[in-house]
Amino acid sequence: METRNSNWWKESVVYQIYPRSFQDSDGDGQGDLRGIINRLDYLSTLGIDVIWLCPVYDSPNDDNGYDIRDYYRIQEEFGTMDDMLELISAAAERGIRLIMDLVANHTSDEHAWFVESRSAGDSPKRDWYIWKPGHDGQEPTNWESNFGGSAWEYDPVTGEYYLHCFSRKQPDLNWENPEVRENIYSMMEWWIDHGIAGFRIDAITFIKKNQQFPQLESEDGHRYVPLAAASLNQPGILDFLQEMKQQVLAPRNIMTVAESPGVPIEQIHEFVDEQHGVFNMIFQFDHVDLDNKPSAKGVYHPWKLTEFKHALTKWQAETADGGWMALFMENHDHVRSVSKYGHDGEYREVSAKMLAVYYFLMRGTPFIYQGQEIGMTNHYKESISGYRDIESLSFHSRQRELGKPEAEIMDYLALRSRDQGRTPMQWNSGYAAGFTTGEPWIGLNPDYPSVNVEHSLAAQNSILHFYRSLIELRRTHKALIYGDFQEIYTESEQVGGYTRTYQGECWTILCNFTEQRVALTEPLAGEIIVSNTDGHEAGGLKPYEAVISRTAADAE
Ligand code: GLC
Repeated sequence: METRNSNWWKESVVYQIYPRSFQDSDGDGQGDLRGIINRLDYLSTLGIDVIWLCPVYDSPNDDNGYDIRDYYRIQEEFGTMDDMLELISAAAERGIRLIMDLVANHTSDEHAWFVESRSAGDSPKRDWYIWKPGHDGQEPTNWESNFGGSAWEYDPVTGEYYLHCFSRKQPDLNWENPEVRENIYSMMEWWIDHGIAGFRIDAITFIKKNQQFPQLESEDGHRYVPLAAASLNQPGILDFLQEMKQQVLAPRNIMTVAESPGVPIEQIHEFVDEQHGVFNMIFQFDHVDLDNKPSAKGVYHPWKLTEFKHALTKWQAETADGGWMALFMENHDHVRSVSKYGHDGEYREVSAKMLAVYYFLMRGTPFIYQGQEIGMTNHYKESISGYRDIESLSFHSRQRELGKPEAEIMDYLALRSRDQGRTPMQWNSGYAAGFTTGEPWIGLNPDYPSVNVEHSLAAQNSILHFYRSLIELRRTHKALIYGDFQEIYTESEQVGGYTRTYQGECWTILCNFTEQRVALTEPLAGEIIVSNTDGHEAGGLKPYEAVISRTAADAE
């Protein structure tokens, strides 16, 4: 086996691919594996080390592949197992490793396990899922699924209900059953044996359910109550996760990054401590969810820069000793960062570069979501017919039922819908942005004639080349990987900043999050290594300016 530096996952930069929207190679309007293979040279030019590939397993696509029908097959629209193996080896030839999404909280209702489980009350696989009789002629509990509505679906075959934390076509596996766990572990091993370098572990904090299956207290009189209180990061979950670690993860030199909403900061060590934790790193969502308080889903909350910074820097502080974070601004469940935290008009380029600097050089492994590197933006859609995402569609129909005006729902979706990050990758200014020769499965963002890879490669000062130089900078200077993190300008509502210190070097990162010039309270020390403007002027930061400077730590 290839020898790997045991810290390779810390030194890597990851690029996330949402395959349906990345590159189509056969004109059916959906991205596919061959499309990705054809774009590997592009990814290699960008300089990334790892691809996180969102689910490509066989699936009826109720939730775009997060509803898996067969863990051992590739979905027809995406290609074949041969294509998958070719992708793994073609990436490896370019020094790029591949991690896959591991969706183990639930399967599709069309998975053979569920088909068997549902077939009879005494089916040998009955207990592989979570079945309960109704309660007073209603669902077993008043739990609300993450996508809205009851988390229980009635099944006429046996007259019982099954639990689904997400859509009704995503029944939850019963992790209490050791056979289920064994099957998941051997599937993970199978994929690792086929050459993948690790997993992004989907919705893992949902696997443990409160075994009392309690009714939840409704504070607002609503019939259903978000199931988090009984199904998110519940006591006992670590027993399952430690078992997975001992059996599959620990003996192998792989990258593991867990999607783990609901993990409170005090508990982060149990998840990512280098000795005792379970995963290499986790995604936390405080910064991307500031505008969406769980207590009032569907109501957009304005936020302040200090809150945004704190939502990131508190995790930096907490993991300083023996922990590691996954750093990200976007993914397939969130909107475009330049539209949300920067400026997607006049200052699009400079603000996208500023955001890149701000998150990329924190302590952790940076993730770039497809299109982020060219500054792709959100797209306001006038009508629900432009949306494809199951969560957005279900949100729309529930809000309509509650009588919310259409325009208000559209405004909310423009700011929050997962489809904002799922419009096709913009490769050039030709037909369908070079994504497909057919009809794209979801509408393109109309800004593609100016925002696309071809332009970005040709323009020396593009966001794309800026990302390339950041990746190179991080690779060259270990301080930007391993250095201690210290926030500065903590109370500022305009400037975000921090230092990274390591072996006699101190790097300072300063970012202006506004479209005004901002005065600096202290002169910037050291030599300026990077600026995203035409030149830094002492004493202040221009609109959306970011600067990176370096000095010897003891030279002050
Ligand atoms: C994760 C995925 C999301 C999916 C959900 C259910 O949150 O990122 O896209 O809908 O899990 O699998």
